[in-house]
Amino acid sequence: MGSLGSDTTWTAAAAGDQPTAGKVITCKAAVAYGPGQPLVVEDIRVDPPQKMEVRIRILFTSICHTDVSAWQGENEAQQKYPRILGHEASGVVESVGEGVADMAAGDHVVPIFNGECRNCAHCRSDKTNLCAVYRVDPFKSTMTGDGRCRFSAASDGAPIYHFLNTSTFSEYTVVDAGCVVRIPAAAPLEKMTLLSCGVSTGLGAVWNTANVAAGATVAVFGLGAVGLAVVEGARTRGASRIIGVDINPQKRIKGEAIGITDFINPKDLDNQAVHQKIREMTEGGVDYSFECAGNLDVLREAFLSTHDGWGLAVVLGIHPTPRLLPLHPMELFDGRRIVGSVFGDFKGKSQLPGFAKQCMNGEVKLDEFITHEMPFSKINEGLQLLVDGKSLRCLLHL
Ligand code: APR
Ligand code: ZN
Repeated sequence: MGSLGSDTTWTAAAAGDQPTAGKVITCKAAVAYGPGQPLVVEDIRVDPPQKMEVRIRILFTSICHTDVSAWQGENEAQQKYPRILGHEASGVVESVGEGVADMAAGDHVVPIFNGECRNCAHCRSDKTNLCAVYRVDPFKSTMTGDGRCRFSAASDGAPIYHFLNTSTFSEYTVVDAGCVVRIPAAAPLEKMTLLSCGVSTGLGAVWNTANVAAGATVAVFGLGAVGLAVVEGARTRGASRIIGVDINPQKRIKGEAIGITDFINPKDLDNQAVHQKIREMTEGGVDYSFECAGNLDVLREAFLSTHDGWGLAVVLGIHPTPRLLPLHPMELFDGRRIVGSVFGDFKGKSQLPGFAKQCMNGEVKLDEFITHEMPFSKINEGLQLLVDGKSLRCLLHL
């Protein structure tokens, strides 16, 4: 069948007769052929969804730092090529596979890289959002059900591998139903893309992982989209002080627009460590710090910036191997704690629809996060903007 091309007028209404259901779809995707090589936008084939899978027409996808890290080939030895990156997106269900009962063609959805089967011991526990079946796994490159790819090259049929349970740099993708969340049809799909990763990760870390209370003091290290979502979360909780830390002075502007009360550029401190400065500013340290830069030296500063006795450092940044945590175990006896947060501790399928409503009614403000928009064909420019620190989220229109 012919390419469905970049038909941006495709809407839920058009899903009614589903002319593509059960068929292979040929469409455009941005394919990664090797670390650091520009993505190639080309025709691929997308198989129909199998049992407990959903095929999605992606309408918007944005670029996260994790895509950049994967594109640049961190942990390269374990990665398979060619593959389709991308994990922040929104779109419409094109068709569903056998057994999918909670979604149908035409539903508005966001894919989530950290899924929820709602059945395993983890999903039944309220202590974790790490599902035993669909949890985030950077080295997984095929579908959960049969270990095969749903993507193949239009030219020779060779398999193209998946990424982070989602692979959204494609007009169509196939995702396990446990990694797809239905959102209200009235929600603005462009902004809902942010809920797929960055904004949920940041806000959830404040609301769910740390459970920051009104009046608390907070330091945020790294003011990209993830860090700024932490700032927004701290603002919504009524934090009394929100200190933003970034080596890029431009980040101060966005930070202040969203809610930081103070800004520290570590490069401006003469011979003083950031944690010393923060302890000085806050009578001994902040109640909570959030590491959103993916840098181990920053992580140590974030940990030491918290108040002894009760401070909690939350790790959101992705840290490439092989370096280990830069802490001496005895330092934990000072009463500072450290914890990681995946997808903001949100149980995606259960909690994201409610979060979407909080965004729709203005409780959470998403206006500042999308700084650039461009057609999908310019995806390499979008990647470069993030590498250069010029964008928060670049939204690609498919
Ligand atoms: N000190 C302070 N800030 C730093 C430092 C540092 N040494 N190094 C980098 N930063 C800042 C950058 O200037 C940038 O503003 O951290 C920010 C990172 O933001 P983005 O690159 O936009 O990344 P984002 O998408 O927000 O993700 C942040 O979370 O999900 C993970 O993999 C992701 O590790 C990444 C982190
Ligand atoms: Zn589960």
